[in-house]
Amino acid sequence: MTTAVVIVAAGSGTRLGSRAPKAFTPVDGASMLERCVTSLNEWSIECSLIVVVPEGWVQPARELLTHSRHPVTVVVGGAERTDSVRAGLAALEPGVQHVLIHDAARALMPTEVFDRVLEALKQGHVGVIPLLPVVDTLVSREAGSGVPETMLTGDTVDRSSVGAVQTPQGFKAEELLAAYTKISGDFGDDAGVMRKAGHTVVGVAGDSRGFKITYPEDLLRAEFLVSGSTHTRVGTALDVHLFDPQSPLWLAGLEWPGEPGLSGHSDGDVVIHAIVDALLQAAGLGDIGTHFGTDRPEFAGARSEVFLARTLALVHEAGYRVASVGVQVIANSPKIGPRRLEAQAHLCALVGAPVALSATTTDGLGLTGRGEGAAALANAVLHSR
Ligand code: CTP
Ligand code: MG
Repeated sequence: MTTAVVIVAAGSGTRLGSRAPKAFTPVDGASMLERCVTSLNEWSIECSLIVVVPEGWVQPARELLTHSRHPVTVVVGGAERTDSVRAGLAALEPGVQHVLIHDAARALMPTEVFDRVLEALKQGHVGVIPLLPVVDTLVSREAGSGVPETMLTGDTVDRSSVGAVQTPQGFKAEELLAAYTKISGDFGDDAGVMRKAGHTVVGVAGDSRGFKITYPEDLLRAEFLVSGSTHTRVGTALDVHLFDPQSPLWLAGLEWPGEPGLSGHSDGDVVIHAIVDALLQAAGLGDIGTHFGTDRPEFAGARSEVFLARTLALVHEAGYRVASVGVQVIANSPKIGPRRLEAQAHLCALVGAPVALSATTTDGLGLTGRGEGAAALANAVLHSR
């Protein structure tokens, strides 16, 4: 992998006043960190992710990010942002040529900006940062004094000669590592470290959606942008199959050795079938029979994961992305508990979004209670892209 993205998420969020560290604070149900990783799932570039979190948050971060389609390494950051970037850079794999450093607090930055930064690096620039025009008139004033009782100094600053700096900031890996080795001290951003080391940094167009969530009003704005401009669709579906002791059991995309299998078209995986049906319903695309019915010989005997991959492509083409999926297994066997987290992580990776898996029995009632078969009930939430 020649591209790595370091997501710094180790700040405490003092100005936001949140209970959890800022990057773990939800924006309309999904944390800032999850949102960064979910949007990078849609980035066309293959990259590795290094996520820098506060002490004590490595495991929670790993659990939140199982839906990443890119490999994720989680490391502990330091007291200042520069320390956290250093910790992230220490985890870079050999062979990486381009490093993009991104603030988790810019949770809504679209991937087009990642593209622009990487493209400029590939054209040969050593350092690239996204910039936005400044809309307010700028003045110079006495440093350190309070606002508004402060003395203005010099002329009004020419707005066309300044820019507001965003992330991701991209750099050639070798030069960035050398700069961070040579330069000490604390810097507001990584371009500052590179320029101090003598490198030229260029600007590309940023995006106003990538504003840094800093104060409570920024969180409200982000929530509004996500929920106010997002069209949400919900789907629910049930799938039931009879046990067939002659077949191996496939459930939630995993094989369950020693357990009776499920009969049916394909591998009989009720969990994936229910998820597929819920996704199709949410997107208004009919149901599993519409797309993968027994009249479609090309899908006979196919693993359910093939249906899921095709369904995700259809959902995407229809203009949606998966926000979350919940699925409940209803069966006497297998016992889900011991493998619940493993199965959930596998489903998260397949779906590319958070998936929650749970299980229940029916007190001996009905076909699942008598042990004749297994069922799964799924819900899917989609957001417009
Ligand atoms: N950051 C970090 N390590 C630090 C400080 C900041 O990784 N020691 C990260 C933050 O998680 C954030 C980005 O750097 O994604 C920009 O920092 P900022 O917006 O200032 O976040 P916080 O430091 O968390 O907020 P505050 O300054 O209000 O405490
Ligand atoms: Mg800070």
